[in-house]
Amino acid sequence: MKVVIVKDKTQMGATGAKIIADDMRGKPRHVLGLATGATPIPLYQELIRMHREEGLDFSRTTTFNLDEYIGLDPAHPQSYRYFMKAQLFDHINIPKENTHVPDGMAEDADAFCEQYERMIRDAGGIDLQLLGIGSNGHIGFNEPGTPLDSRTHRTGLTESTINDNARLFERREDVPVEAVTMGVATIMDARRVLLLACGENKAAAVAAAVEGPVTPDVPASALQNHEHAVFVVTEDAAAGLKGDYERP
Ligand code: F6R
Repeated sequence: MKVVIVKDKTQMGATGAKIIADDMRGKPRHVLGLATGATPIPLYQELIRMHREEGLDFSRTTTFNLDEYIGLDPAHPQSYRYFMKAQLFDHINIPKENTHVPDGMAEDADAFCEQYERMIRDAGGIDLQLLGIGSNGHIGFNEPGTPLDSRTHRTGLTESTINDNARLFERREDVPVEAVTMGVATIMDARRVLLLACGENKAAAVAAAVEGPVTPDVPASALQNHEHAVFVVTEDAAAGLKGDYERP
């Protein structure tokens, strides 16, 4: 696992976008795993800029999002499908049929999870998976305690995640309590993983993920065993790290 410490969110977004663009340019039919949340927004803005100003081409890119709330319609402003449209898909030349976000309205969520795994396999697997990290160490919605061999599954959200996400909903009771998420093993299958973290509230989770033991208690710690995982972390989110890391 490689760790790069950058000064702020803008540099985090630019560094992450360059890693993605370089990987895409090396493989025209690129399969990109995507994340939602506040963290990747500067990266998406930089990808949009690269598309507009440098001709970064998404016409043959396929995407798979990590997760989606159960019970939110894709048109709901807090659904992850809506987020991806607003933050990225509407601003680049990706065909809609190439974009995949788990279906939070599927009648049979378990069958859908198996289908999602199949779709990823049929696309040739994920070339690069983008991740954020929860303040409790989650990746996707793999909350602490999720088995490290988990595949795409339906899961309940922890109180800590519901609290973290409540700021985005009118009332705390409106925050969905279940989601569909790629599993830790699904994420580990990606050829490359890029995790972004910013903000002092992520410092403990980043330190545990990078320098703590590999344990289901901190799902992001599994990435220590990934051959091509890069963490791009701002100074404040890196505050708990003891080791000596690259600072470009
Ligand atoms: C989002 C996701 C989550 C977030 C994490 C951090 O698709 O899978 O694991 O990456 O909760 O969220 P933010 O970036 O809002 O702090």
